[in-house]
Amino acid sequence: MKIAPSILSADFANLASEVKKVEQAGAEYLHIDIMDGHFVSNLTFGANVVQALRPHSKLVFDCHMMVEQPEKYVADFAKAGADMMGVHVEATAHLHSVLSLIKAAGMKAEVVLNPGTPVSAISEVLPMVDQVLVMTVDPGFGGQSFLPETMPKVAQLAAARKKNQWHFDIEVDGGLNDQTVKQALEAGANVIVAGSYIFGADDPAQSIAALRKASEK
Ligand code: DX5
Ligand code: ZN
Repeated sequence: MKIAPSILSADFANLASEVKKVEQAGAEYLHIDIMDGHFVSNLTFGANVVQALRPHSKLVFDCHMMVEQPEKYVADFAKAGADMMGVHVEATAHLHSVLSLIKAAGMKAEVVLNPGTPVSAISEVLPMVDQVLVMTVDPGFGGQSFLPETMPKVAQLAAARKKNQWHFDIEVDGGLNDQTVKQALEAGANVIVAGSYIFGADDPAQSIAALRKASEK
């Protein structure tokens, strides 16, 4: 299991030290939520924040693009030091093209599914992706409740991966904590995003340890 703290719930006035905290606590990824106010009704940050954080961390920067036309931002994020870019199938008419662009720019390519979108919407790109993100809340905001009805999609992806000998990781995002993580792992997810559960806690390291412990049971 890899843990991907989402900085959406971090203290934006102290981002570098927040990132150091979760890195020292053993997180593997840093989940960076990019929102454009169009694809979702919220605004966050752009490639400039990725670039500013890059010298402060060796974590895998996992950029979750909740933006329309993600193809417009690939070059900027690669230059800023992103390791992985996740694009929503609902946000582009050019899914294959944008995933190819991400790989050509030297990043790992990830495809993302909203809760209302079936796995069949991404079947054609599954052989080429490094990671699939199954949203376990509707995107846009931190602190929402985990949707257990998304778990069959995780299981479906894990079965298709096995059958076809594909190699993508399966990430889940939204409402993850030391309880809901168990369902996600059981269904077949192996990358766990958590925002409010980690950065909303008094001690983020303790939340990370609790996620690890829950995964061992
Ligand atoms: C929501 C974002 C998530 C968010 C998760 O649109 O994609 O990454 O930070 O927050 P929690 O873990 O609080 O549900
Ligand atoms: Zn996210």
